[in-house]
Amino acid sequence: MGYSMSEILHGNLNGLRDAVLDELRSLTDWELGPDDFLPRPLMQKLAALSNSFNREIAVYITRDGAVADVAVGTDSDVELRDFSLRRNRRRLSRVRCVHTHPNGDGHLSDVDLSALKSFRYDAMVAVGCRGGEPTSVQAAFLGAEESIIMERPYPWYKLPETAWLAQIAESDAVIGREQAADTENERERAVLMGIESEESLQELALLAETAGAQVVGSFLQKRTKPDNALFIGKGRADELSRECQALEADVCIFDEELSGIQARNLEEMLRVKVIDRTMLILDIFARRAASAEGKLQVELAQLQYRSARLIGASGALSRLAGGIGTRGPGESKLEIDRRRIRERISDLRHRLEEVDRQRGVRNRSRERSGIPVVALVGYTNAGKSTLLNAMTGSSVYVEDQLFATLDTVSRRTETAEHTPYLLTDTVGFIRKLPHALVSAFRSTLQEAADADVLVIVSDGASKEWLNQHDTVEQVLTELGAGDQPRIECINKADLGLAEPALPNAILISARSGDGLDDLKRAIADALQKTTVTATVFMPFAKGGILQQIRGMGRVLDETYTDEGTRLTLVLPAADRDRIAARYGSEVFVD
Ligand code: GTP
Repeated sequence: MGYSMSEILHGNLNGLRDAVLDELRSLTDWELGPDDFLPRPLMQKLAALSNSFNREIAVYITRDGAVADVAVGTDSDVELRDFSLRRNRRRLSRVRCVHTHPNGDGHLSDVDLSALKSFRYDAMVAVGCRGGEPTSVQAAFLGAEESIIMERPYPWYKLPETAWLAQIAESDAVIGREQAADTENERERAVLMGIESEESLQELALLAETAGAQVVGSFLQKRTKPDNALFIGKGRADELSRECQALEADVCIFDEELSGIQARNLEEMLRVKVIDRTMLILDIFARRAASAEGKLQVELAQLQYRSARLIGASGALSRLAGGIGTRGPGESKLEIDRRRIRERISDLRHRLEEVDRQRGVRNRSRERSGIPVVALVGYTNAGKSTLLNAMTGSSVYVEDQLFATLDTVSRRTETAEHTPYLLTDTVGFIRKLPHALVSAFRSTLQEAADADVLVIVSDGASKEWLNQHDTVEQVLTELGAGDQPRIECINKADLGLAEPALPNAILISARSGDGLDDLKRAIADALQKTTVTATVFMPFAKGGILQQIRGMGRVLDETYTDEGTRLTLVLPAADRDRIAARYGSEVFVD
């Protein structure tokens, strides 16, 4: 693995001469062989350097045998560096830390051992030095169940290098197995509570699994007048409490939005964490968000939803131990302190405004480049990313899970007639898409809504696809995307259609490639309708403007007269109008 750190030398470098600094840096030139744990010449070098300025030195050696980093400390201490992989807290960091003890022996200290644990080093090694020569060396490794395997100190010239290398491999394997077992056990056991709709409940189960939970029970309840205090009525709640207990549930997920009071009362009664569909979806989004903007948007939506539900100092949510509903984007945990939530919300708003401003700049440059945009929209899991890949030969993350794609991904491609366009994949839609999310993702979804052509992708193999299609229509209407040309396409035709197709829909299989030519044809036709052929005349003096116009479309013809240039090009109708507004309609000759 590579460490892209620009400076490899750290720590207390005060008063060290340039020549010494160079020597320290050149420690990273060392390359250890596959059988080397710590070569003697390297130890000698470290001891000599450490002695020359009477400070500790730490070097970090990767599994590949490279010295990745060097740090200098004081005479009794060196600040140790964290190389642990953030994504995976328990795995070893794949670097061993070797440090000197000037004027002493090689006994590992308690501080060394606790650093071994928290930074997950492959090994922690102390090299004692005296008079510029190494003395004894002690190594420790991580073992099963967070234990430490401590070796006795060895004379520096007699290290059991092979055994120590083998110990790293062994530790790695043990910890890897434990972690795999943990993640299996860590799956939260979820009980689902649906109201009326079986389909919606099934989808909730899929959502719960996507969030990493194991669904251990699900119940459906007739819709009655919602109980203000408990949402489902006292008697049903009592029963649900017993069911949760019997099923050893960690979390109960409601298929409807709960108020803060309801969530708190239910938690008190059920004695498990209670979340609702919105929090569940937000949780999935939080874990999927990849771009900086996506992360900001999700966190903002989460905090807003949550702050509206925190009641008093010990609101229901503040008691949640962790897991679904408490995770923010990336590795962060969501803020639970009200004041800090408020601060964070305003900070996030600020940063999003900044991103939005930049997006505005980007969009304008797209307008100038004149490439029309074709957006793939559809229910989550309909196969949009697969289709984007199939159409453009690119590779976008595809997974049989909900919301594999959160961010807009665009690829440049072209029609058979070489008209270039951008094909864009968007976040999947879903029924009861939380309002907090629709507004958070407005700018992302808006890009789709602003596209020149919409391709509505449906999952023909789902029994629910007509309902899903309605949901997509509904969200599009909310976004004000009604006017563009639309192409209906029904995907996964290779699996057979669960319901009869819509008239005019194109049947495709993104997986096998069937029907893609028809789809491409339909896109080309639709684009054709959004583009016009126009001829512009510009005097030479206005060559700069001509240059801009030339970039807006595909040039068919360019001729030069005594007075200027005549340019015929195919360009989006909207751009033609824009040119007319900016430079006057007289620039067009017909
Ligand atoms: P979101 O990111 O949730 O919006 O999903 P998406 O619409 O981008 O769906 P994605 O491309 O991730 O595909 C979802 C699943 O459907 C994946 O397992 C694909 O392999 C599968 N899939 C996509 N197209 C086809 C197809 O034509 N036939 C079959 N059998 N499976 C397909």
